[in-house]
Amino acid sequence: MAQEDFHAMAASLPDPFRLLLRENATSTNDELRLLAEAGAREGQILLAENQSAGRGRRGTAWFSSGGESLAFSILLRPQEPKALWPRLALASGLALAEAFGKIGVEALIKWPNDVWLQQRKVAGILVESGKDFVIIGIGINVNTLKFPPEVALSATSLQLAAGQPFSRADVLAAVIHQLPQRWAQIGNDFETLLEGVRLRCALTGHHVSLQTSSGQKTGWIEGISPGGELILRTTEGLETLMQADEIRFMPL
Ligand code: BTN
Repeated sequence: MAQEDFHAMAASLPDPFRLLLRENATSTNDELRLLAEAGAREGQILLAENQSAGRGRRGTAWFSSGGESLAFSILLRPQEPKALWPRLALASGLALAEAFGKIGVEALIKWPNDVWLQQRKVAGILVESGKDFVIIGIGINVNTLKFPPEVALSATSLQLAAGQPFSRADVLAAVIHQLPQRWAQIGNDFETLLEGVRLRCALTGHHVSLQTSSGQKTGWIEGISPGGELILRTTEGLETLMQADEIRFMPL
């Protein structure tokens, strides 16, 4: 790892963030959870160059390429009621897209929290909670040029989209500076957070097919509800979805 880059950047992180670098981890989410349970403070970031068991949402494996991508987790001990913690996923996705905008790459959000460039995934977020803490796990394809076959058609990187490499330390710094202001909006300011999400929503206005807990649905995405749910219009009318998997654009 080009640790010197990260060390220099770590020294300029805003409070309360502190960076812990590891060459190898199973999953940074799992290893940070152990630190959280042992009393680590809010703001602890664990970044690993290689993960042997990196995880995505819905139990999928997360591919990250050492030296080219970023795989890290951040420990939070939110003051907000636990019922609001799931909103941290939406807030983090928006913050990532905004941070990429600040380094010159305009990204969209594929609700709820995939970050998208040119209809491909550039970053993913895995939010997991404990009794009194939340772990925000973030994977970003920064300079990855080649992906494994199973994601080759659905993944991209900042470099592939922008045609130039990025310093991973700079990308990490941009993200860490952007996250707190969106996290702070999961309570009273949720409407402001949603305005930002609506501006970058990749799905609004599109005809999609998606998998929900009550089966496969097809319809038009009308936007994001005041509660942060996805609004879908099907032949049967409007419905709001708390969760949906495998959202695909559909030809008419
Ligand atoms: C997804 O889109 O499915 C979420 C991907 C989250 C990947 C990151 S990489 C760092 C952290 N550690 C993990 O095991 N997963 C998250």
